[in-house]
Amino acid sequence: MNPAPLVDCAGCGAVVDPSRALPFRCPNADGQPDIDHVLTPRPAEVDFPSAPDDHPFRRYAGWTLAGRLARWSGLTVGAYAEIVDELDAALVRVGGVGLTRSPFAKRPALAKGTGVPGLTLWTKTEAVQPAGSHKIRHLMAVMLYLRVLEAAKLPAREGLRRRPLAIASCGNAALAAATMARAADWPLDVFIPPDASPVVVRKLRDLGARIQVCDRAPGELGDPCFTAFRKAVAVGALPFGAQGPENGLSVEGSRLIAYEIAEDLAAQGEAIDAVYVQVGGGAFASGIAHGFAEMEEIGAIAKRPRLVTVQTEGCHPLNVAYQRLTAWRKETGADARAALAHAAAHRTAFMAPWPTPPHSVAHGILDDETYDWLALVEALDATGGETVIASETDLEHAYALAKADGFDASHTGIAGLAGVLARQPAGERVAVIVSGVDR
Ligand SMILES: Cc1ncc(COP(=O)(O)O)c(C=O)c1O
Repeated sequence: MNPAPLVDCAGCGAVVDPSRALPFRCPNADGQPDIDHVLTPRPAEVDFPSAPDDHPFRRYAGWTLAGRLARWSGLTVGAYAEIVDELDAALVRVGGVGLTRSPFAKRPALAKGTGVPGLTLWTKTEAVQPAGSHKIRHLMAVMLYLRVLEAAKLPAREGLRRRPLAIASCGNAALAAATMARAADWPLDVFIPPDASPVVVRKLRDLGARIQVCDRAPGELGDPCFTAFRKAVAVGALPFGAQGPENGLSVEGSRLIAYEIAEDLAAQGEAIDAVYVQVGGGAFASGIAHGFAEMEEIGAIAKRPRLVTVQTEGCHPLNVAYQRLTAWRKETGADARAALAHAAAHRTAFMAPWPTPPHSVAHGILDDETYDWLALVEALDATGGETVIASETDLEHAYALAKADGFDASHTGIAGLAGVLARQPAGERVAVIVSGVDR
C-alpha cells in the first residue's frame, strides 16, 4: 500500500503519518521552543478539479488532507462527499447556512470610494459563511479529517470521542468552533477572558459550548486563556482553534479561498497584482499565501499576487519581526532562503509578544504574537509583498465605505480594505477578503 499522505513540520522537519497520529501540533514542539513548528500537509499530487462542484470541500477534496486520506484509506469519492454533505447539512441545521464558495466580484463603487487613483478592487465575501467568517473553513478542514479517521477506522481514531475539543478565543474563531462542534455533536471547551463580549458569550452558550472564564492570577505572564487551553490539550483535549503551531491542519482551510479566487480570475481572464489580508495570529493569511503558491505552481494563475499583510497601529508584531529580519539580512548579507532558515530556528530573536496591551477597533486581529509568521515571511519574500499598518482612521473609513457599499462586516473584517487606504496602491488590481460580520 502507498504511504498515507504525509504531513511535515515546516520548522523541524518531523514527519507525521496522519492515519496513525493526529497532525495537529508537532511532536517536537515542546522540546524545541525556539523553533517554529507548524505541521503542514504535503502538496497535492492530483489534478486540479475541473468538473463543476461548488462546495469548496467537495470540489477541492483532492487538495485537502481529509479528502486525500479518505481516498488513500479506500473510501470512495461518493463516501467522502457524503461525509462533507452530512457535516454541511448539520451546519445548516445549527446556524441556517452551510459552507459555500463565497462571492468574489469587482467592486467599482467601493474602489472609487477609497479615492485611490486607478484602483481595481475585488472583494471575496467570507462573512456569508456559517458563524459569519472564514474561520469555519479552518475548522471544517479539521473536523472532516476527524470524520474520515472514524469512517475509515484508521488507527489515529482510537479514543477520539472521549476527547473534547478545546479553543482559547472569544471572537470569530470561538463562534466558528462552537458552531462546528455543535454540528458534529462533539463537546467543546472554550477558554475566555472575564471581559469577553456578552453577545459572543451568550451565542457560545446557546451553541452548547462549555465556557471556562480564565482570570489572570497576580503576576501571571502570558494569556491565561491560552495557558488553560494548553493544559486541557495536555490532558487529552483536541486543539480546535485556528493557529498553526497548535493545529497545523487548521491552516489548510483558508487555502481554499485562494483556490476559489484563482479559478474565478482564470475563468474571467483577469488577474490581480496584490491581495491585502488582515493578520492576527496569521493562519488566515498563511493558508491564502500557500494556496496562491500552489495555484502558481500548477499554472492556474500566471503569477501569485503580492501578499500585503495588514495589522493595526495598536498591534503589529509581524511588521516588527519582518523589519528585524530584514535588518539581520542587511547585516549578515544572507539571502532570503538563509534568512528564513535562520528565523525558523531563532523565533524569539524576531517574533516577540506585543509589549503593551493592544488596542484597536479591529479587536479580532490583536493577537499579541503572529503565531504563523514564518509562512508569511516566506510569502512576503517570494511575492515582493509588504507589511502594512492601518491606522484607526483607516479602519473607521474602511468600515464606513464597506457599510455604504452594502457589506455587513466588522472593523476586523474589513481591515484588509483599511490596509488599501493606508497603502494607496494607485493603478493596481487588488483583492481584499471581507470576513467577520458586524456584531
Ligand atoms: C474576520 C477575521 N479576519 C481575519 C482574522 C485574522 O485571522 P488570523 O488570526 O488567522 O490571522 C480574524 C481573526 O480572528 C478574523 O476574525
